[in-house]
Amino acid sequence: MMEKYYFIMTYGCQMNIHESEKIAGILENLGYKATDCVENADVIAFNTCCIRETAEQKIMGHIGSLEKLKKNKPHVKIVLCGCMTQQEGKGEEIKSKYPYVDYILGTHNIDQLHDLLEKQSKSKILVEQTDGYITENMPVTRTSMPNAWVNIIYGCNNFCTYCIVPYVRGRERSRSMQSIKAEVESLVAEGYKEITLLGQNVNSYGNDLKDGSSFAKLLNELAQIPGDFRLRFMTSHPKDFTDDVIEAIASNDKICKHIHLPVQAGSTNMLKAMNRKYTRESYLELVDKIKTKIPSVGITTDIMVGFNGETDEDFEETLSLVEKCKFSSAFCFVYSKRKGTVGYNMTNIVPQEVKKERIKRLIALQNKITRQGNSKYLGNVFEILVEDVNSKFENTYCGRTDCGRLVNFKSDKNILNQFVKVKVTKGTSATLWGEIQE
Ligand code: 5AD
Ligand code: SF4
Repeated sequence: MMEKYYFIMTYGCQMNIHESEKIAGILENLGYKATDCVENADVIAFNTCCIRETAEQKIMGHIGSLEKLKKNKPHVKIVLCGCMTQQEGKGEEIKSKYPYVDYILGTHNIDQLHDLLEKQSKSKILVEQTDGYITENMPVTRTSMPNAWVNIIYGCNNFCTYCIVPYVRGRERSRSMQSIKAEVESLVAEGYKEITLLGQNVNSYGNDLKDGSSFAKLLNELAQIPGDFRLRFMTSHPKDFTDDVIEAIASNDKICKHIHLPVQAGSTNMLKAMNRKYTRESYLELVDKIKTKIPSVGITTDIMVGFNGETDEDFEETLSLVEKCKFSSAFCFVYSKRKGTVGYNMTNIVPQEVKKERIKRLIALQNKITRQGNSKYLGNVFEILVEDVNSKFENTYCGRTDCGRLVNFKSDKNILNQFVKVKVTKGTSATLWGEIQE
């Protein structure tokens, strides 16, 4: 029998990276094998993102570039799924622009890919409007040894006014503690060394289950699983970050001391306009509390500039918050309006030049803080999970500290997937360099 191949292109966040592992699982079940070369593929799947307009434009460009390939090889199935396709009317819009796309699947329809391909169905748009449900026991083909992703909660109930996620991912649905625990146990048994718990807002884990489950309980429970592994999680919402979660992180060695805590803006006015449900002051207090209770913690964040109505004073407050919090790194974004959100219809738009100026200043400030923060790592020894080779240099590997910083180091032996002790010797930018301690 002829070999059949699949090629998956993933856009966007960790959730999508993990979802692509599930798409790969479906395809491998059907007998397809992975290929890195799109020209060789019999199935080409784009797992899409729509968080910002730039993401969508990039994807549209890539779909456009498949036209010739599909003409030359009409048997190739082109599949679009993920957040972009779930937006109202988007499936039809894509189909009319790019009629050669075969299957367009919404975020709640991915498990139907199996049948469509098995039956070689004719082209179809399957986008279900629902609050969502959970499909357990989907096949998963993992590609990120020694790291494994585990969903704990899907969807989002927060409706931040700039954000499309609640519209394309539905309401919050938590998996049961029991099924999460079983998955983590089997991953540890398979040799995975780092498990990252995923959710749009991990701190609201369990709220919908109404059986007493909570994120703190889940962390404490998973940290009891025996074995040589560590736990990470993302993303946390500042409004739900409770003391028992801080306590769970502080008191369990297996839980990494890294918290991704998106602030979005530094002025209470902007936070209100964004519907974030916390203030500048309460965020600063939370960061202080976390740093006091977990002294080795690394806090990272997401920040947006140019949301509707942002004044110079508001932006200065973002800069001063960044100065105060000393994040170990920050993802900085320019606000991009998304159809269907509350922000889309606001009229107090910030001009493009102002946004550009602000993002430049913000990134420059955070870069300075990241560089300055490096000095506190110098000379210290960290336990690092060796995740990858750094192919830019000879015999060089890289991995993360418990608090989330990337470190490069040399080794003559193959040390992939192992925990090693590394002394940090140099740090000029976002990456640190160190030496393995025997
Ligand atoms: N424009 C720009 N950035 C956005 N984010 C979410 N929605 C938008 C938008 N419309 C950012 C937020 C979020 C991160 C994942 O993406 O900072 O935390
Ligand atoms: Fe979007 Fe806010 Fe939900 Fe995060 S918490 S996914 S920013 S709506």
